[in-house]
Amino acid sequence: MIVCVCKSVSDRTIRASIKDGMDSFDELQFELGVATCCGKCEESVRDVMAQSGVCASRCGVTHPVHPVAPAVAPQVLPLTFYERKAA
Ligand code: FES
Repeated sequence: MIVCVCKSVSDRTIRASIKDGMDSFDELQFELGVATCCGKCEESVRDVMAQSGVCASRCGVTHPVHPVAPAVAPQVLPLTFYERKAA
């Protein structure tokens, strides 16, 4: 599946690059050109990274790779924004 339409980069290419040692979003961006044009693919690239067990934010947490390739999209947790109240 094409992840980055602008640069015609597939999830397979991204996974292969991760397997070859690219373990940061910046490296993927530099080497493959993902998210360097319109930028709409950034979240999808980060999702592929997370599915490959690479932390897209380099938070230091090891993310386990699911033993069976997930056939469905990973669960997306809703974001909660808290509004600061004036004192
Ligand atoms: S879809 Fe990746 S930069 Fe536009």
